[in-house]
Formats: sequence, C-alpha cells, structure tokens
Amino acid sequence: MGGTVEFCAMCGIVGYVGPQRAQDVVIDGLRRLEYRGYDSAGVAVVHDDALWMAKRAGKLENLEKVLAEEPLPAAGVGIGHTRWATHGPPNDANAHPHAGEARRVAVVHNGIIENFAELRDRIEADDHAFLSDTDTEIAAHLIELQVQSGVDLTEAMRRVCQQLDGAFTLVAVDAHDPERVVAARRNSPLVVGLGEGENFLGSDVAAFIEHTREALELGQDQIVTLTRDAVQVTDFWGRAAEVTRFHVDWDLSAAEKDGHDWFMRKEIFEQPRAVADSLIGRRGADGLLQLDEMRLADEEIRELDKIIIIACGTSFYAGMVAKYAIEHWTRTPVEVELASEFRYRDPILDSTTLVVAISQSGETADTLQAIRHAREQRARVLAICNTNGSSIPRESDAVIYTHAGPEIGVASTKGFLTQLVACYLLALYVAQVKGTRYGDEIDEIVAQLEAIPSQIESVLEQAESIYGLARDHVGARSVLFLGRHAGYPVALEGALKLKELAYLHAEGFAAGELKHGPIALVEQGLPVLCVVPPRGRDQLHGKMISGIQEVRARGARTICLAEEGDAAIEPYADELIRLPKVPVLLQPLVAIIPLQLFACELATLLGHDVDQPRNLAKSVTVE
Ligand code: M6R
Repeated sequence: MGGTVEFCAMCGIVGYVGPQRAQDVVIDGLRRLEYRGYDSAGVAVVHDDALWMAKRAGKLENLEKVLAEEPLPAAGVGIGHTRWATHGPPNDANAHPHAGEARRVAVVHNGIIENFAELRDRIEADDHAFLSDTDTEIAAHLIELQVQSGVDLTEAMRRVCQQLDGAFTLVAVDAHDPERVVAARRNSPLVVGLGEGENFLGSDVAAFIEHTREALELGQDQIVTLTRDAVQVTDFWGRAAEVTRFHVDWDLSAAEKDGHDWFMRKEIFEQPRAVADSLIGRRGADGLLQLDEMRLADEEIRELDKIIIIACGTSFYAGMVAKYAIEHWTRTPVEVELASEFRYRDPILDSTTLVVAISQSGETADTLQAIRHAREQRARVLAICNTNGSSIPRESDAVIYTHAGPEIGVASTKGFLTQLVACYLLALYVAQVKGTRYGDEIDEIVAQLEAIPSQIESVLEQAESIYGLARDHVGARSVLFLGRHAGYPVALEGALKLKELAYLHAEGFAAGELKHGPIALVEQGLPVLCVVPPRGRDQLHGKMISGIQEVRARGARTICLAEEGDAAIEPYADELIRLPKVPVLLQPLVAIIPLQLFACELATLLGHDVDQPRNLAKSVTVE
C-alpha cells in the first residue's frame, strides 16, 4: 500500500484477561488513558474462536456510540487503544487494533517500528494485503504467521520482536487462544496490573486503578504473558526476567473529575495537597533533610562541580526556576537545557557533572534520549519524576518522586508545582551536604516551603475574580507575560498555558529585555500580565515597575501579580492580583496559580477542550 505511512507514537494501551466483560474493562481503561492521544480509538475481543473488533476515528466517544448500538460479544479477553498520530490523517482504517491476513491475531501498538517497510515488502510478495497505512499492521501479520506455524502467542511475539527495530509496546490476542494476552515492551511504556483471578495491562496505572493497585513495572525488551491466574515475564529470548512490583498509592478518585468541569481545573485546586504531599517525610529524626530515593552518596555530591538540568515544556520552566535556587543556595554552577537540543551540541560532561532530568510523565522521548547520552559520558543522572515505574527514573542513577498524584489534564499544573518543590529540596540537600548553607538557614527555608500549601489556598480563593479577568479578555488576540529573575520562567509558563489551551498568541519575556525589541509588539489595549517580584534589598522590584511603566505608557493594559502590601505597584496596575508574601525564590509557587486559572477559564469561555487541546498529547514519546 502506498502513500504516507501512519505512525502511532504516544497512544494509550489497555489489555485484559479475566471474568469481567472485556469490552467494558477496556473502554473504561481507555477513558482514563485518553489524555495520551485522542485521534482514534479501538477495541478487540476474542470470542468463539474469532476476533471481534470495533474502531473509529476521533475521540473515544465515537467508538462508544458504535459499541452502544452494536456491542462486541461478551468475552474474557480484550485489548484496546487510543491514539495520537504523527503523520497522515487519523481515520478508521488507521485506528488500532490491526489484524493479520487471516484475522486470527489482533495487535495494538504504541511507538514506531522503523523497519516496517522492509518487513512489509517481504510478506507482500506472499500476497498479504494491508488495509491501513500503519507500521503496526506488519506486526499483526508477522505474529499471525508465527502462530499459524504452530507456536504459541508468547513464542510468536518473541520471534517477531527479535526482527523489529524501533520503539514499541505491542499487545496481542489470538482468536484460537481465548485465555491469554501477550505484550512486549521496548522503549515505550507498559505496566501490568495484578488482580485476583484477572490481570491487566496499561500504558500507565490509570488504565486499571479501578480494579487493582498492585502493579509490575516491566523492563526493556521484555515479553509478558497474562492469563487469569498468572503473569509470566521473559526477555525477547525467552529467559526469565526480573520485574519490580509496586503499590499504587493513589486511588480512583484521583483519576476522576470530582465535580469539576475539567481535570485541569481539579488539578489546579489539588495543588495545596500536592505540594504538601511532596514535602512529607523529607526530614530525618535528626532534623536533617533526607531524600529517600536519592541514591547518590554524599561524597559524590561534594565532588559535583556542575549541574545540568534537562527537560521539555513546562518541566523546562521548572528547571529554569531551579537554576536560581540551586546556584544561590549551593554556589554550584547550573545550566538548563531543552532536552531536545542537549545531545546535539556535544555537551561537556564527566563524572563530576550531575544531570537532572525533570519529567512529569517519565516517558518524554527527548528527555530519555538526553539522559542516555549523559550516562554514556559518565555523568550521574538524577530524575525528578511523577510517574512510578516509568522509563526516565528507571534509567537514572537516582530519583526524587514528586507525589502530585495522576495528572490527567494535558496542560501541566500540579506536575509543575511539585517539580518546583523537588528542585528546592534537591538544592537544599546539596547545600546541606556541601555545607554551603547553615542548618538553621535550611530549616528556615523548609519551614517557608511548609507554609506554601496554605498560601496557595489563599490565591485559589481569588479564583472568581481571576475568571472575571478572563471574561474581560475573551476577545484578546495576543497576550504578553513579563517577569524577572524567578518570575521570568513563571511568565514563560503562563504564556505556554495560554498558547496550548486558548490557542492564542502569547509570549513571555524577561522584563528587562523588552526594550531590546519586544516592546514593539505593544499596542493600545494589549493585555500584559506582569509577575512583580517581592520588595527586597535588591533592585528587582523597582526595575520591574519601570518595565511595567514602559508598556503602560504605550497603551498596554497591565494585569499585575504583586505581593500583599505592595503599594508601589498600585498606580501602574490596571488590574491587581494579590499574592501572599513569600521569598523571591519561592514566589513561582504562588505566582503561577492565577496564570493557570486565567488560561483554564479563557479556554473554557472560548469553547475549547481544556483537557485535550488540539494537536497535543500528554506524554510525548517520540523525538
Ligand atoms: O512529562 P514531561 O514533564 O516530560 O512533559 C514535558 C512536556 O511535554 C510538558 O510539560 C508539556 O509542555 C505540557 N503540555 C505543558 O503543559
């Protein structure tokens, strides 16, 4: 088949074997994974020696309508898929699952099979017809050929995986083997849910959290066979493999909207709890900071002479804030770099460099490839991550988990805040080990962090007036964000939220940079959101006010975020949002909240799908 080839890159996958109706379990799981991709969805079950499939382009609700009219037969084995495509049109034919020539084996897939064309040419010569443009369909044909030759589905999957290049999670069922689901994992996420008399597969635990909180994380190049009563894991060559069991410490309510219109809004309001949870258990009996999962020896930390932070999107902005805190508290030089750029500039690294990879999902391909490069250069890698069992912490030397709970909205909110907390803790821990701050100074900052949850609550109490501001700006065509120092990354993050949710032109600038070009953008009525630093001994506050005066003098409408009691800002603010008094380095934790609320509300008013913005997916597993 010619034309553009359709790859499925980040997608959500579900598998089930057990006594429940497989279609229902799979659809419920897909609903919780839909944030991973929403270009099409599909399900397959095995019944009466045959495959039964339904699939539709568009959101999961399209598939649900089809199934409501024509349900698949009751079956105890099923697989499903929700997709984010990287090339070509998302249509019914390209939706997963895909079946082999004889419609005996069905497969769902996340990732890219790089040598699919060569493999397809090989079997097209044997009169195999392909119904889609996907790379996935080849896997269905190849696995089916293997089971037709007499081996079982597990062995068939092994043999085929040995031939595949690229990154993939594959999950397959065989119509002649109604008791088993088989999956393979290389460079693409997959976890197993362990039930009683039933077992589950999911791209992440949200897929099965309704049924079990006991899970297995799979390693690289592993094959898992699920039956009702057993889970067997081997490598691609059939050798028994080691897996790590874990307990999921959040429950179903965390994966539901709880009366909010959007997951994002719910997650914004969860931030006081998320920050508090990320701080729990960080002090030992001796009062010293301890980071349990931090597997770096004190000696290694003392020897560090450079820290490089790599991340993408919102996580990158968390890294920018971290630079201010780490350098100030530890006097260790910090570079912050976009993960997608990192390895292409041939960075200078050695064993005295600590690379910190920040990733909410733990699966971002750019970040994953960057840490692999760093480890090849002998750098130590520490992950800051929210997802247990994901690839980035697994491939790092050390990890700090962020305890935000599941973040379902595609736009990151509580993920960002808890990343900031983890970065502050890391900075303080390094300061403690290197002795660059006295113990009482560290205690004071930790106490300030512990006060943040109630300060975030006080910002959230202003939600209604922030929604009012969003209403006032529904017609805006462009919005600017200004900040300085740690407020500069906040401005960038505020602009990113507006771009991804409201599809508006939005730019964040360091306020001092305005006069070097961007001020030319300012015209009558342009909304400019300004993150005003707290008043302090330095000149930051005064300089920020000068920047605000400059844009206002040219007709901008200024919306200023400034701390309680800051009277100096009042003459220059067309609108004022008050922030609690916090030290300048911690201000991002409270200053970002109004910007999240503003973007969420503006996008809602514009009629956009806030949780699933166009063209995006939650975890970006392609480079
Ligand atoms: O899972 P990660 O933190 O690695 O994801 C990085 C970015 O893709 C992510 O922050 C993205 O920018 C969000 N959509 C922002 O809201």
